[in-house]
Amino acid sequence: MDAISKASKSATLTIGNESWDLPVMAGTIGPDVIDIGKLYGQTGMFTYDPGFTSTASCESQITYIDGDAGVLLYRGYPIEQLAENGDFLETCYLLLYGELPTAAQKADFDFRVTRHTMVHEQMSRFFHGFRRDAHPMAVMVASVGALSAFYHDSTDISDPQQRMIASIRMIAKMPTLAAMAYKYTIGQPFVYPQNDLDYASNFLRMCFSVPCETYKANPVLARAIDRIFTLHADHEQNASTSTVRLAGSSGANPFACIAAGIACLWGPAHGGANEAALKMLGEIGSVDRIPEFIKRAKDKNDPFRLMGFGHRVYKNYDPRAKIMQKTCHEVLGELGIKDDPLLDIAVELERIALQDEYFVDRKLYPNIDFYSGITLRALGFPTSMFTVLFAVARTVGWIGQWKEMIEDPGQRIGRPRQLYTGATERDYVPIARRK
Ligand code: CMC
Repeated sequence: MDAISKASKSATLTIGNESWDLPVMAGTIGPDVIDIGKLYGQTGMFTYDPGFTSTASCESQITYIDGDAGVLLYRGYPIEQLAENGDFLETCYLLLYGELPTAAQKADFDFRVTRHTMVHEQMSRFFHGFRRDAHPMAVMVASVGALSAFYHDSTDISDPQQRMIASIRMIAKMPTLAAMAYKYTIGQPFVYPQNDLDYASNFLRMCFSVPCETYKANPVLARAIDRIFTLHADHEQNASTSTVRLAGSSGANPFACIAAGIACLWGPAHGGANEAALKMLGEIGSVDRIPEFIKRAKDKNDPFRLMGFGHRVYKNYDPRAKIMQKTCHEVLGELGIKDDPLLDIAVELERIALQDEYFVDRKLYPNIDFYSGITLRALGFPTSMFTVLFAVARTVGWIGQWKEMIEDPGQRIGRPRQLYTGATERDYVPIARRK
C-alpha cells in the first residue's frame, strides 16, 4: 500500500533515563498513528491496550469513520449519499474495487453475482442435519464454513482469480443461505433464487414466498431492505471484521474466515444488539415504564444496558441510525402500521435518554440497531433473523477487508502479545501429593 505518508513527525518515548524516537504516520484523514512496530526490539516492552481503544490494527483504504462528527464514508463517499442514491450491489462494487462502477461495470457485476446465487444442491441435505429450533445464526456459522467443503475450486488464496470467484460466490449465496436458514426453522420448503429479480427482491421472495402461491415483492419494502444492506455493508475494523482479518492472516480460506466473522457478529454487544434492542423494547412494554429502565441502565450494580445505545467509535448520533429511523417510518407507512407500541417506546426512550445527564456526559446516542429491529419486525422477520440480515450485508465488507489484507505484500500473521499475570515457573506436583 502506498497511501500512507512517510513518517514526517516522530514521537519520543521516555522511560527513566532512556528515550526512543517512534515514527508518526499520517493517513489521508483521521488521527495520526505512532508506529510501535519496532518497540519491543528497541525497548523490550509491549504496549497494553485490551479492547484496542487506541490501537490501529492495520492500514486500510476502504471505510472511514469520524466518531465525534458522526461521519461514515465508504471509499470516501458519505453513507447518506450511497443509501439515498445507489443500490447495495453498487456499494458492494465500490467496497471491493475502490470506485463506483460505470453502467457497463455495474451490469457486468450484477450479472456475475446473479450467476452464483444458487448453492450446491447437496447443501440442502446438510441443512437437514440441524434441529428445527436451531438459531439461524448457528446455521449460518456452520453453512458458510461448509461452503469451503463445497467450493474447493475457490479456496486457493494465492490465486487472484480464485479469490475473486470466492468473493462473488459469498455475496451471491449469503441471501440464499440466510433464507434457507429461515425456511428451515419454520418448516417450509427452500425457495430457489430467481435471477431476474434484484438482490433485495430476490431475498424477500426466498424468505416469504411459498410454492403454492404467487409472490411479488413490494418495491418499497425491497428498497428498504436494500438500504438496510447498504447501511450495514462495512464499518472498518470492528470486532467481526478484525476477526475475519485475524483468521485470514494465517492463510485460512475465505469461507472459513467469513464464518469466523459471523460467529463474532452474533454477540449482543455487536450484531446481536438489534435482536437485543427489540427484546428490550418488548420488556419495557409501555412508555410509563421507561424511567425504571433508564434508572437500571445507569445503575453500575445492574448489568442491564440500553441496547441500541452507545458505540465504541461514535460519540455522536450514528449516521446510519438517522437513515434507519427514516427507513423505519417509510416501512411502517407502506405497511399501514399507524400505531406500533414499540416504536412509541423507542421514540420516547430516545427522547428521554438524549436529555439525561448520564447519557449526555458519556456521549451515548442511538446506534444503527436501535431502529433496525422495529423495521425488520415490520418487514416480517422474526428477531432471530435480525443478525442474519446484518451478516448478509456485512459479508461484502468482510470480504473487501480480507482481500485488501491478502493483497498487501507486507501482510503477516496477526499475533498480539499479552501482559502475563499468572503463576511464575513452578514444579509439577504428583496427584497423590496435591492438597
Ligand atoms: N447503556 C448504559 N450505559 C452504557 C451503555 C448503554 N448502552 N453503553 C455504554 N454505557 C456506559 C458504560 O457503562 C460506561 O460507563 P462508565 O464510564 O460510567 O463506566 C461508558 O458508557 C462507556 O462504555 P464502555 O462499555 O466503556 O464503551 P465501549 O466502547 O466498550 O462499548 C458498546 C461500546 C457498543 C459495546 C456499548 O455502548 C454497549 O454495550 N451498547 C449496547 C449494545 C449495542 O447497542 N451494541 C451495538 C453497537 S452498534 C452495531 C455494531 O457495531 O455491531
